[in-house]
Amino acid sequence: MSFNQRVEVGAANDAAPILVTGGAGFIGSNFVLDWLATSSGPVINLDKLTYAGNPANLASVAASPAYTFVQGDICDAKLVARLLEEHRPRAVIHFAAESHVDRSILGPEAFLRTNIDGTFTLLQAARSYYDSLVGKERERFRFLHVSTDEVYGTLSPDDPAFHEETPYAPNSPYAASKAASDHLVRAWVHTYKLPAIMTNCSNNYGPYQFPEKLIPLMIANALQGKALPVYGDGQQVRDWLFVLDHCRAIRTVLEQGRIGETYNVGGGNQRSNLEVVTTVCALLDELVPDSKFKPHFQLVKYVQDRPGHDRRYAIDARKLEGELKWRAEESFETGLRKTVEWYLANAAWVADVTSGAYQQWMTQNYDSREAGRSTVAIGEGSR
Ligand code: NAD
Ligand code: TYD
Repeated sequence: MSFNQRVEVGAANDAAPILVTGGAGFIGSNFVLDWLATSSGPVINLDKLTYAGNPANLASVAASPAYTFVQGDICDAKLVARLLEEHRPRAVIHFAAESHVDRSILGPEAFLRTNIDGTFTLLQAARSYYDSLVGKERERFRFLHVSTDEVYGTLSPDDPAFHEETPYAPNSPYAASKAASDHLVRAWVHTYKLPAIMTNCSNNYGPYQFPEKLIPLMIANALQGKALPVYGDGQQVRDWLFVLDHCRAIRTVLEQGRIGETYNVGGGNQRSNLEVVTTVCALLDELVPDSKFKPHFQLVKYVQDRPGHDRRYAIDARKLEGELKWRAEESFETGLRKTVEWYLANAAWVADVTSGAYQQWMTQNYDSREAGRSTVAIGEGSR
């Protein structure tokens, strides 16, 4: 166990903290920054710091008395129990996961361990902590499990979007491990009356996303004049959600959501991958006018498809919108512009996270994909 407590919660702050897992990852760090900027409550961040966790994301709050960082594993039952006992959080917000589908195909073990065993460990610890609570502390305690729309499987072009009652049909090792964790949460509510709530969201994008995922990968590669690898025919559809809209949804569900319920969170922005890449390239053409790789779309390269690639995801967020009055505020166009601008302004962050082991991943995932059709003509992407 590696335990590294850098900043203690200020004794003067009497608001009960929240315990966040995976807070040094993409969504988690956006959530922690947003939480500390918009609320007075302290945060304990438990993160193992895998390749996807980056404490630099939280450098701006590292010295805050409201922020405590603990490097450790959610599978470490003793550590989790100790943190709950010591800090007595009013909620656990569970982000920690192995999150990349391609990595789950090449090495599923870590996904089963963290996503299933890790969630089980947290649920057990939360259950025994909850059993020790009385009065107001017990009434307000929540366990919020952050999950994905990928548990619902894949949609055909004309299928209605995923809603909370859509049967689970996970297709990738990642999706199966998240589905398993969702089932555990459901069972802990039903059997042990743990006051848990689940959110299942669509593809997030925004600042601090590790450049193994589609949007930051395309930005990082285009800026260096590298190929933009589009899997298969590029017509797979995702429903893009700006990460800060997601963070706001989680806060809303935490404060107002009903125990035992699932809330789907989506951006209402269905786009094919080729449309996404086309828009990223157009933004880079505009924002980096003197780039020697302009027009960036010429860098697109069709490569071998992902095995078992889900064709379409789409979220029906009407429950969250109707019941809790949440709305996605960012359109895909405004959110993507902000995202590209962030990556342009944070070239040092990208350089830092893409050094070292990242290069091995790029070789492992991309070199083995036979190149299909090579560079396509500009504009072909919008057909
Ligand atoms: P991420 O991969 O960027 O970050 C995951 C974080 O969890 C990292 O900081 C990592 O160090 C930490 N972690 C991994 N294993 C751990 C362990 N055993 N113990 C402690 N910490 C560990 O992931 P993300 O994109 O921020 O996703 C966060 C959550 O949201 C995940 O549960 C994911 O399944 C879910 N989700 C993500 C998306 C998306 O588009 N990114 C969409 C739907 C759902
Ligand atoms: P990704 O960002 O990995 O998220 P997810 O698989 O969870 O949806 O991928 C988004 C889409 O982009 C998905 O259909 C796969 C595709 N994709 C590519 O075409 N090329 C790439 O290099 C990557 C990483 C993804």
